[in-house]
Amino acid sequence: MAGVELYEMRGEDYAEVHALWRSCEGIGLSDSDSREAIGAYLARNIGMSAVARQPDRRLVGAVMCGDDGRRGYLHHLAVSPDARGGGIGALLLARCFERLGARGIAKCNVFLFGENEAGREFWLHAGWKPRPDLGILQKLVRRSARPRVTPSPAPARSRSTRRAE
Ligand SMILES: CC(C)(COP(=O)(O)OP(=O)(O)OC[C@H]1O[C@@H](n2cnc3c(N)ncnc32)[C@H](O)[C@@H]1OP(=O)(O)O)[C@@H](O)C(=O)NCCC(=O)NCCS
Repeated sequence: MAGVELYEMRGEDYAEVHALWRSCEGIGLSDSDSREAIGAYLARNIGMSAVARQPDRRLVGAVMCGDDGRRGYLHHLAVSPDARGGGIGALLLARCFERLGARGIAKCNVFLFGENEAGREFWLHAGWKPRPDLGILQKLVRRSARPRVTPSPAPARSRSTRRAE
């Protein structure tokens, strides 16, 4: 964890982020995780999602974070298996909450596979509360458009440290 720094997730991180997700149990990937779809998500939630990199630039953590104006949502929080237990997951979470709080979001939800016991223990340990009164229903939408990537001005890549983030 020494020297690990957080950065805003950018489209150019995609290959490394996707490789990390593929290497992690508990992360379910679908066509909603294509390069195009993730790019569209990042464009809709600018500055919210993050990656963690070691000093040698190796990517060791990632999380997607966004909000719909009412609730915050986290997706695919993952830390490289050989980098776990050093506080990187907590660091990524803290950054997400800082950003959500700055946007006036009061509550955050996360989706978790029922069989992901270790993941569940992590969230509980971090103070998240189960909502057994809620369930998820889902239905396919017939898409008439491809995910839209809104062009956004590209500010200088923000380099953030534990202190700054
Ligand atoms: C869950 C995950 C992101 C945690 O990352 P991490 O970097 O190892 O977590 P941290 O080191 O920051 O741990 C923060 C705290 O949680 C605790 N913790 C970590 N994993 C835990 C687990 N599985 N069960 C209980 N507590 C756990 C740590 O002991 C630490 O506690 P402390 O603050 O009291 O010292 C990582 O294990 C992972 O990538 N898992 C696979 C993907 C996954 O399931 N993601 C979540 C589902 S979306």
